[in-house]
Amino acid sequence: MDANDMGDDLAAVLIDADQIQARLAELAIEIDADYAGKDLLLVGVLKGAVMVMADLARALHTAVEMDWMAVSSYGSGTRSSGVVRIIKDLDADLTDRHVLVVEDIVDSGLTLSWLLRNLSSRGPASLEVCTLLRKPEAQQAGSSKGEPPRVRYVGFDIPPEFVVGYGLDYAEKYRSLPFVGSLARHVYRPGK
Ligand code: XMP
Ligand code: MG
Repeated sequence: MDANDMGDDLAAVLIDADQIQARLAELAIEIDADYAGKDLLLVGVLKGAVMVMADLARALHTAVEMDWMAVSSYGSGTRSSGVVRIIKDLDADLTDRHVLVVEDIVDSGLTLSWLLRNLSSRGPASLEVCTLLRKPEAQQAGSSKGEPPRVRYVGFDIPPEFVVGYGLDYAEKYRSLPFVGSLARHVYRPGK
């Protein structure tokens, strides 16, 4: 799927496919250096992290295992509440493992905060986060909701708008786009 397949549903390409791959290559160099000589377990958060997991894992020289978790955040509409339910848990035992959580996007950071608390209780040797995208709210330290989760590797900081593509969906659509883009208003606000 590419921009031409979206007709007038696409408002703008924010980060194109080449930019994504170039940034993942840079992050892979950092991660390879940081985990030299260690076994690394990548934990992808379904479904959004599928693309970044696949491309990041292939950009790394470090030998990795990949495991997956699916969580659902109870929230009103597009806002997440920080109350999370595990839909699919990991197969791997995290005890004494070096764990890197791979995320598509960190918005308020509430989902990730919950996930990090949950995973750290399982006794990993280390626990870090790599996210392709981060919205402004997640950068604000000491907000009223508490300290945002520490994210060691960030692909791109983006404006606070709703984005799709490269794993991210709107109503399960557009995940297969190779770029990150924004949607035309008529798609998600019909009649407005
Ligand atoms: P929080 O606010 O807990 O939310 O950090 C993170 C989750 O919210 C979803 N999310 C988005 N999904 N486009 C999407 O397709 C977006 O712009 C967007 N912003 C947040 C996503 O599931 C993420 O894991
Ligand atoms: Mg997600």
